[in-house]
Amino acid sequence: MNSAEIRRRFLNFFEKRGHKIIPSASLITPDEKGITNTTLFNSAGMQPLIPYLLGKPHPLGRRLANVQKCLRTVDIDEVGDAIHNTFFEMLGNWSLGDPDAANGIGAGYFKEEAISWSYELLTSKKEGFGLDPKHLYVTVFEGDENSPKDLEAFEIWEKYLPENRIYFLPAKSNWWEAGDNGPCGPDTEMFYDVTKKGLGDLTKAEFIQADEKRQVVEVWNDVFMEYEKRDGKVIGKLPQKNVDTGAGLERLAMVLQGVDNIYDTDLFLPLMAEVKKLSGDTRDQRITADHLRAAAFLIADGVRPSNTDRGYILRRLIRKAVAKTVGKIVNLDNWPTTTKEIIQGEIEKFSKIINQGVKEFEKIATGKKEISGQDAFLLFSSHGLPIDLIVELAKDKKITVDVIGFEVKFEKHQKLSRSGAEQKFKGGLADESEQVIKYHTATHLLHQALHEVLGDKVSQKGSNITAERLRFDFVHPAKMTDEEKKKVEKIVNQKIAEDLPVQKIVLPKEEALKTGAYHSFNEKYGAEISIYFIGENLANAFSKEFCGGPHVTNTGVLGRFKIIKEEAVAAGVRRIKAVLG
Ligand code: ALA
Repeated sequence: MNSAEIRRRFLNFFEKRGHKIIPSASLITPDEKGITNTTLFNSAGMQPLIPYLLGKPHPLGRRLANVQKCLRTVDIDEVGDAIHNTFFEMLGNWSLGDPDAANGIGAGYFKEEAISWSYELLTSKKEGFGLDPKHLYVTVFEGDENSPKDLEAFEIWEKYLPENRIYFLPAKSNWWEAGDNGPCGPDTEMFYDVTKKGLGDLTKAEFIQADEKRQVVEVWNDVFMEYEKRDGKVIGKLPQKNVDTGAGLERLAMVLQGVDNIYDTDLFLPLMAEVKKLSGDTRDQRITADHLRAAAFLIADGVRPSNTDRGYILRRLIRKAVAKTVGKIVNLDNWPTTTKEIIQGEIEKFSKIINQGVKEFEKIATGKKEISGQDAFLLFSSHGLPIDLIVELAKDKKITVDVIGFEVKFEKHQKLSRSGAEQKFKGGLADESEQVIKYHTATHLLHQALHEVLGDKVSQKGSNITAERLRFDFVHPAKMTDEEKKKVEKIVNQKIAEDLPVQKIVLPKEEALKTGAYHSFNEKYGAEISIYFIGENLANAFSKEFCGGPHVTNTGVLGRFKIIKEEAVAAGVRRIKAVLG
């Protein structure tokens, strides 16, 4: 059964049973806090429906069904195995509210109907998916201090399955919630035995093992949402009992198409065929296919690559996809033009960084059997090579990478960056209004532009920033000509137009000095130095300075840069005043 038919059957089945079909919400969660637990993307079918699960009446009534686009990055390390991916579609049916409270559009329902319909849809040949009941196993909630053992669900299941294929499991497996706040409750999960022979009766321990070995695969989850959580604690029952179910389309397709992993289903086949033409092992090919597919859906919902929030996740997905194919570009001819252009644009940007980084890699790798953690970190921090790519490049050369060493360095760097931000290095700004922060970044651009136009003798003498303008004093023997001023303005505006990332790295003083970042020769610096650089990576950055920040994250937000005054303040010292418009 192809995936389109699976969607159709699911929705038809519930439409016939009084459900209204609602469209998928965007992958992007609304920005209002509190509604979505401030996650960046919808990661379950229930997320866009949270207000209705909490009690707000839904305009279409109490029974709903949908196919919701979801993006989950929590399992990202498992992507590429048989059943994990980042973007997926969740088939769901919903009952909002009390089973007895008929409201003229259709009453709600609870465990009895939810479980019976799940079973019927999974096994019915005529209306449903025609799965073999002998391959079905289910789990139910064993109970804890929040909610009792779910004997009701157990008894309903007993009508359909032998008792020894129904297992009681703890909250870790059979309690569903989205974060620390919101509707939640016990659930019952359905698993399908994907082995050819069939596993037959299994004890609970054997079932758990079969799950670990992926011999059984979870295909559907019915959540009985009647509780509410706040700050991680169940605070009691909701005003209404809800049913929230979720069946992963990719997994159902896998089971119904008789393949042993989601990447061999019709949902992935065309893309996998293209990816397979490139290098990489099966797992890498799957990661590339998954990430590109997720990127395409994010782009379709309006996300663009950037260095913050959603855009950053999109950027990481595309770059990881490329890293896995060692920079080779998948044929995307059949994709929508915008999607293709955005992905290709991002790949090109990234390829430039990679190409330089690869040269560094070649130098470092020559004559070695292993890339040390130190060298791997240098390639990452100064040359922008992701660790995945370093590992891939090393594989090609049949050498290894000390990934553990890399991670130790990486962690240390993360910690230093964090403490750096907290400490506020010398030179940190007192007034941190948005406008002041913008002028601060513009000052760095100006400083570098002056070096490019007037030469490297230019050195900073002082700087003063208000929310209205920047002021920058520097050593230069003569009045700047109009042409020079125009050139400086043009360079700064060019760098703003390029929307370069502004990034920070914290290095031990010795290493910081080696980067060539601008710094004052009079100042005493501490052992750890915070450097802000403007560009994709430290090696190719347009500007580098010792600095405590803060800065904007991307130059694109600065607006138009204009010099309004250039004058002498002392012999051989000039002063520029400039504004952003
Ligand atoms: N909300 C449930 C899940 O995501 C159905 O698994």
